[in-house]
Amino acid sequence: MPDADDAQQSRYYHLDVPQANTAFYLKGAGALDWGMQNRLARTFHPDTGRTVMLAVDHGYFLGPTTGLERIDVDIVPLLPHVDALFCTRGILRSVIPSAPAVPVVLRASGGPSILRELSDEEIAVDMEDALRLNACGVGVQVFIGGSNETKSVHNMTRLVDAGLRYGVPVLGVTAVGKDMVRDARYFRLATRICAELGAQVVKTYYVPDGFETVTASCPVPIVMAGGKKLPELEALTMAYRAIQEGAAGVDMGRNIFQSDAPAAMLRAISAVVHEEMPPAQALELYQTLRHETTADPA
Ligand code: R5P
Repeated sequence: MPDADDAQQSRYYHLDVPQANTAFYLKGAGALDWGMQNRLARTFHPDTGRTVMLAVDHGYFLGPTTGLERIDVDIVPLLPHVDALFCTRGILRSVIPSAPAVPVVLRASGGPSILRELSDEEIAVDMEDALRLNACGVGVQVFIGGSNETKSVHNMTRLVDAGLRYGVPVLGVTAVGKDMVRDARYFRLATRICAELGAQVVKTYYVPDGFETVTASCPVPIVMAGGKKLPELEALTMAYRAIQEGAAGVDMGRNIFQSDAPAAMLRAISAVVHEEMPPAQALELYQTLRHETTADPA
């Protein structure tokens, strides 16, 4: 006896519903393979297409810098508020819990310390280890205009080749030397080179004049690095403008972990990124949350 008549077959096979082709939501990522899109989707929130990545990788050349002396004590409690964590594999294995899971982008370049020429980096992580750590991506410094420009670009392109082999996106980080002009013209050049040579995401600094031309001319998502610690309102304003001018999120460190109330600052930044909360309102949110976390319970 047949297990279904024609009418039932129509119902179970949804013969009247054509299969949809769902476009992937991130800029420039439509032609990427499933695994790479899936890793990007773990980093960039599907509801907004944006990310709040917390950068705590500074120790790879700075050692225990202010705010990162004890990542286990001061950073791990922040993890519930981040979309992704940018860190080294040493910190990941030694102090970041594997559960609850936080999406991780691994710092994958390094070599020189703050005492030497910083642009003289090599690849510092094998892609196989990034896979072993279930990383959502790897990040590499690119020193456009620096004394090791070609070497750092080559580091990135080798990681891009390995990442394409295994489905791991590469975050190209535009590193600016001390003597370089930080303007839109420079960042257009640096971000575009990273994207042209295969980075699936690019991290760069905000500039007040012409940042929208940087995001417009870069064919892949840009996340904003925070830079030196600023007063909270200035940092929130910078993040707000970057988002309004086309950034797909932030990868901020010092302006969060060097804040008086890092969890409050992280949540305020998240409101700016995901809800487009204006800076003055985000500052109020920061102050309210800060007061709640520091209020004397007595
Ligand atoms: C870049 O070289 C560092 O590794 C950081 O990831 C990056 O600078 C973002 O951190 P911050 O917001 O402190 O500049």
